[in-house]
Amino acid sequence: MSRFKVVISFGTRPEAIKVAPVIKELQRCRDKFHTIVVVTAQHRQMLDQVLNIFKIVPDYDLNIMTKRQSLSDVVIKTLRGLEPLLKQERPDMLLVQGDASSAFASALAGYYQRIPLGHIEAGLRTYDKYAPFPEEINRRCISAIADIHFAPTPRARENLIAEGVDQSRIYVTGNTVIDAVKEILSKRRISACRTKNIRLLLVTLHRRESFGTPLKGICQAMATIVRRYPDVQMVIPVHPNPHVSKTINNMLGKEKQIRLIEPLEYPDFLALMKQAYLILTDSGGIQEEAPMLGKPVVILREKTERVEALEYGTAVLAGVEPGQIVKVTECLLNDINTYRHMVRRCAVFGDGKAAMRIRKILLKWLASIDTGCNSSKL
Ligand code: UD1
Ligand code: UDP
Repeated sequence: MSRFKVVISFGTRPEAIKVAPVIKELQRCRDKFHTIVVVTAQHRQMLDQVLNIFKIVPDYDLNIMTKRQSLSDVVIKTLRGLEPLLKQERPDMLLVQGDASSAFASALAGYYQRIPLGHIEAGLRTYDKYAPFPEEINRRCISAIADIHFAPTPRARENLIAEGVDQSRIYVTGNTVIDAVKEILSKRRISACRTKNIRLLLVTLHRRESFGTPLKGICQAMATIVRRYPDVQMVIPVHPNPHVSKTINNMLGKEKQIRLIEPLEYPDFLALMKQAYLILTDSGGIQEEAPMLGKPVVILREKTERVEALEYGTAVLAGVEPGQIVKVTECLLNDINTYRHMVRRCAVFGDGKAAMRIRKILLKWLASIDTGCNSSKL
């Protein structure tokens, strides 16, 4: 059997964390796969942090990031960068992950070259095209292009089926972020030590649909919380997007109980998650990691596509209105029974074997194409 050429294209921190286990898995099977790693570098420093941690060396680096880049900048530069590369490499399969604009533009670039597409973390939906923005439309467009859909959960699979995607093309694999967490935890002993009499609240914010008034409201809520609770310390690794960092620095920079820090290396961030009493976030990936670490999450968004944790009861949707955020958070700070009920480890987003499943499915599909058995499917 010939070796299959697979291009994996990604550009942001969360994509890198989630494709790292897949890259490792494919590279482990060198006799079966020729894996080509392409980074758009939609993120620069935050992407490089992850590449270093997982020891991933890109074969191609489009190096597209500029300060204050627009959505069009990312899409246009990715399309332009990938066109000659895909023409030259002509892979058997292109893989993208999630819903960032790098993933969407990579999928489109592959489609223009008629290259089969595999979508990792397929089928997440809010069914609101502006929440999250632009991710909801990015992922729906990727689904329209994809030939194989790696759905992280049964719910994601159901979403795709409801949209008319052929069931035989959907595989429930678990989310590869759980593989990534397990990989880090297996290599580093991460202590969950806490400072006595201090409750640590870990906060991250970056969603585009929150820029402006909602983000200011969230910051206002954070200030109210620390002022009311002398035993609360808040740590915020500030996202470098200027729309985010400017607002957070202006509104929270002088709060004594709030520490604003640079984005952390992934293992350090996981350590901080373990130490946290509570996590408040609008991040997608953190919503998936927290239940695995047994940490309750207050979701600082109007809508989430990760409803599994809400249903399991380890996350609560607070919205972006300051009064409501304070109310939800205070409930967890004041009522130990409510809090304890949310402190439960659960594996709703995966078991850590997603990458292995993806590798096996890919091999089967590519082999069937190679022999012509399944050519109608792709
Ligand atoms: C992007 C993704 C979002 C994902 C998020 C994860 C899109 C449209 N958005 O949003 O889906 O949830 O990443 O963090 O794909 N910057 C730096 N250094 C970095 C990274 C960003 O300075 O390493 C700054 C730059 O000024 C850049 C800006 O942040 O122009 C915005 O980056 P961009 O990737 O466009 O958007 P994010 O908000 O990071
Ligand atoms: N993360 C990190 N360092 C930080 C903050 C987050 O390594 O300082 C990790 C986090 O554990 C998760 C991912 O980055 O795996 C989430 O990234 P982000 O919130 O930027 O994007 P999203 O998941 O919302 O797309």
